[in-house]
Amino acid sequence: MTAETPVEHLTEDAARAELARLAHQIAQADAAYHLHDAPEISDAAYDALKRRNAEIEARFPALIRPDSPSARVGAAPAEGFAKVRHERRMLSLENAFEPAEIAEFDARIRRYLGLGDDAPLIYTAEPKIDGLSLSLRYEGGRLVQAATRGDGETGENVTANARTLSDIPARIEGAPDILEVRGEVYMAHADFEALNTRQAEAGQKTFANPRNAAAGSLRQLDPAITASRPLRFFAYGWGALSAPLADTQKGAIDRLEKFGFPVNPWTALCDGPDALLAQYAAIEQRRATLGYDIDGVVYKVDDLALQDRLGFRSTTPRWAIAHKFPAELAWTRLERIEIQVGRTGALSPVARLMPVTVGGVVVSNATLHNEDYIAGRDSRGMAIRDGKDFREGDWVQVYRAGDVIPKLADVDLSKRPPDAAPYAFPAICPECGSDAIREESDSVRRCTGGLICPAQAVERLKHFVSRNAFDIEGLGAKQVEMFYRDEVLPIREPADIFTLEARDRANIPKLKNRDGWGEKSATNLFAAIQARRTIPLHRLIFALGIRHVGEVNADLLARNYLTWQAFEAAMTNATVGGGAEWEQLLSIDGVGQVLASSLVTAFHQPAERASIDRLVAHLSVEPAQPRGQVDSPVAGKTVVFTGTLERMTRAEAKARAEALGAKVAGSVSKKTDLVVAGPGAGSKAKQAADLGIETIDEEAWLQLIGGA
Ligand code: IVH
Repeated sequence: MTAETPVEHLTEDAARAELARLAHQIAQADAAYHLHDAPEISDAAYDALKRRNAEIEARFPALIRPDSPSARVGAAPAEGFAKVRHERRMLSLENAFEPAEIAEFDARIRRYLGLGDDAPLIYTAEPKIDGLSLSLRYEGGRLVQAATRGDGETGENVTANARTLSDIPARIEGAPDILEVRGEVYMAHADFEALNTRQAEAGQKTFANPRNAAAGSLRQLDPAITASRPLRFFAYGWGALSAPLADTQKGAIDRLEKFGFPVNPWTALCDGPDALLAQYAAIEQRRATLGYDIDGVVYKVDDLALQDRLGFRSTTPRWAIAHKFPAELAWTRLERIEIQVGRTGALSPVARLMPVTVGGVVVSNATLHNEDYIAGRDSRGMAIRDGKDFREGDWVQVYRAGDVIPKLADVDLSKRPPDAAPYAFPAICPECGSDAIREESDSVRRCTGGLICPAQAVERLKHFVSRNAFDIEGLGAKQVEMFYRDEVLPIREPADIFTLEARDRANIPKLKNRDGWGEKSATNLFAAIQARRTIPLHRLIFALGIRHVGEVNADLLARNYLTWQAFEAAMTNATVGGGAEWEQLLSIDGVGQVLASSLVTAFHQPAERASIDRLVAHLSVEPAQPRGQVDSPVAGKTVVFTGTLERMTRAEAKARAEALGAKVAGSVSKKTDLVVAGPGAGSKAKQAADLGIETIDEEAWLQLIGGA
């Protein structure tokens, strides 16, 4: 490629010509990659083309082409934004509500790091801004990309929009060559009120709260609209970096401030749980006068070397926690109790409420958990709410738990209508008429209809196409409902998705001629399905929707079995309760009896199994990578730690081994590659010796992984 003119030096004509060239090149690369399965250029070169295209578009919005590559994702043109894969994942925070949880947070960190109670440990405490997170990528000091969080791995490219925020510098000086600044986009109260007034006067939709207004304003396809919205930004962290910013969290934030980013003025250093709680109280007191919404206080370990050692769980860092403010409450009437049947057959009661505003959001439904909860008992049969039950017609108190899912806290018996009867929980599935039974020790009643229950089948399909499963663009919950009921082109099980296009071709009435569909949307859907015929193993395992197999477990299983063939063979040959495959499954650290038996049972149910086989026949399943750096000496190895470790805690040892791609098992078996034995190692070390498995001490282990 010839040297490129910097975007800011391009004339309008040159920009127009280059956008045309880029549209053509990117379309060609997309076709090679998605339609012919043969990429012609490297991912990096591809990303560079997309980035340059986005930059030119941001400077010359008037020149954006109708076929702009930034409005497309792969071969399936999306209606919305281009997707961006975050170089470093954007995580969320663990929540805490009680002071005791903060003491426990500190204690847990000390345990993990092997720090005594008196060792100094400094935290930062800062407001948790109630907006939406944004990642800003600077290269050579210039803003080249802005992306929303999305699912944490892949977000949306909102570069052109982010450039319109005056809080976000287009250029910064003295920064590392590559710097991703992370922070929160929000709207101040006064700006929110003014915006809603303007919207109402113009006959446009108004927003429920500043957070929704901020999200709606940033995610505008037309950057001119974003520019007209009063959005602000606070920087609170970073993603990818080519050089460290500082040794401490506070030092790094100070540097971001020097680069020109707004940082929150209520950030303090605290030397332990008491100081954190004092800072929480101080911030809570100022909450009403800050001028923008906050929903808690975030605590972070200040020392970045310690943050590094602490690392991450699957979606949250161990070194931070969000101490949330108590949920807001409101009273309203419980009009009806309805039963929804979920993917695993669980009958979930939902309260239909007289709409009421709680914490700035109108709530009209709330979860009622299960029949015990309605009756006023917890899972051990103990009275909750003093044993008061919920009845249709009652006045109930609603709150938003973690500010998301509405729940009911209390009932006002003095207002109970005289004819209100205790709620009779159905013993028959309202969707398919099968018996709904409750197993001992389970608080949930489940429909026994399995795949013959339409509600279960539909929910499973919705799960199958969901974002972290097959993520099929254009096939969301609404479309799944539609196709499930369809007589001409039905989708009743996952395999049907992959025969959709062929069946449509054979049909006389075509999908493209239906109401709500057209040539473009039908073609896009088929292309999106086509693109998912190749699927990573962990996504497939998660998508199957087997009870207890969430994303974390799916990932764990994928990293242990590595290929679909190995996984499928192991599940087929396993029997619940014994045998080599069963033992192997249980030897995976993190897999317990409940998960193991749920998996094995699913693979041995004939209808279920046949449905899985029909699906997999259409797929090419990508093998999993053992986690972490694949070139580490322990990648793919199964390691067992035993005895006392002196240089690190057991939790830290495990997390580090896993980060290097090793599997950590709890017991020694033929599959074990290496045993790390500290003083006091007993039967496990002996077992290892009997099986001829290599055994080393902690020092040798540290040398092996390069951390001595
Ligand atoms: S730190 C790795 N600090 O809260 C941890 N997050 O629940 C990254 N948020 O997605 C988050 N204010 O959008 C951090 N001062 C703050 C924050 C903050 C708001 C949001 C952020 C994040 C969410 C996590």
